[in-house]
Amino acid sequence: MANNLKNEYDMLLKAKKGKYAVGAFNFSSLEIMRAIVDAATECNSPVILALSEGGLRYAEPHYIRHVLNAVLEMTDVPVALHLDHGKTFDIIREVIDLGFNSVMIDGSSLPYEDNIAITKKVVNYAHKKGVVVEGELGVLAGIEDDVSSDKHLYTDPEQAYDFVKKTGVDSLAIAIGTSHGAYKFNGDANLRIDILQQVNALLPDTPLVLHGASSVPQEYVEIINKFGGDIKGAKGVPAEMIALACENGISKVNCDTDLRLVFTATVRKFLAENPTVFDPRKYLQASKDAMCEFVKSKITDVLKSNNKA
Ligand code: G3H
Ligand code: 13P
Ligand code: ZN
Repeated sequence: MANNLKNEYDMLLKAKKGKYAVGAFNFSSLEIMRAIVDAATECNSPVILALSEGGLRYAEPHYIRHVLNAVLEMTDVPVALHLDHGKTFDIIREVIDLGFNSVMIDGSSLPYEDNIAITKKVVNYAHKKGVVVEGELGVLAGIEDDVSSDKHLYTDPEQAYDFVKKTGVDSLAIAIGTSHGAYKFNGDANLRIDILQQVNALLPDTPLVLHGASSVPQEYVEIINKFGGDIKGAKGVPAEMIALACENGISKVNCDTDLRLVFTATVRKFLAENPTVFDPRKYLQASKDAMCEFVKSKITDVLKSNNKA
């Protein structure tokens, strides 16, 4: 892989000390990948390209290996390639062989001791290969890949300390009230910043990760609903809450749903307003530009990682 692939732990510890966060943006297509990298490059910001196992199967490993290398050659900003929500040892091994330098092992749905065991096994394997590891403790409400839960199971700060010491993970995803997807809150949004502060005080050198951190911009929800979609009631984490979390120890912010919304809204609107167009380059270009603008504003206005490359 190109040499601007950077150690994610160093990237995140610097962010934690500087009270900003690095965005981990999920991609599954060339348009999304290029929108993220172009935005980070324009903002002179470090960035994490995140791929789920579903994303890897969709894009296909052989293409991913070569396309990622090509994308990395097009930028000078620090980039980490990260597996999002790895559930098994096999997928961890597969992406490390593909050149990923960061993996998440998500044992959060397992009994505590089993989570420790699989996480430790991954840490031992990954560290020998120079790859950093993110673990997860606590359960986010909603759907995490094939795991779903009706209720939040907030991370216990003492257990978080014990987990990091026993497993040797480089970073830790914690549950403080966010959830995956486009429907995050029934009522008002609320994050347990008090839990975050307690975990942060116990683990000053462990970057903390916020999953389910999309803000679900209402302007895009409205466009989707106006042009034939039906995602009424979609709601995300307000940008100011993400910013507050970053000031209190979150240094990696995961975002997938927002890019899906921006992509879909732009395609729906473009095709509705241009009924004679059938050249995919036209609406994919519009979507890529819109996603790039969105990522730039997230980096600059919320994460504050601009000019930190
Ligand atoms: O946290 C999960 C990510 O949004 C990936 O979702 O498994 O549908 O690719 P996915
Ligand atoms: P969102 O669904 O809020 O974008 O969260 C994505 C995520 O946590 C990926 O791991
Ligand atoms: Zn997640």
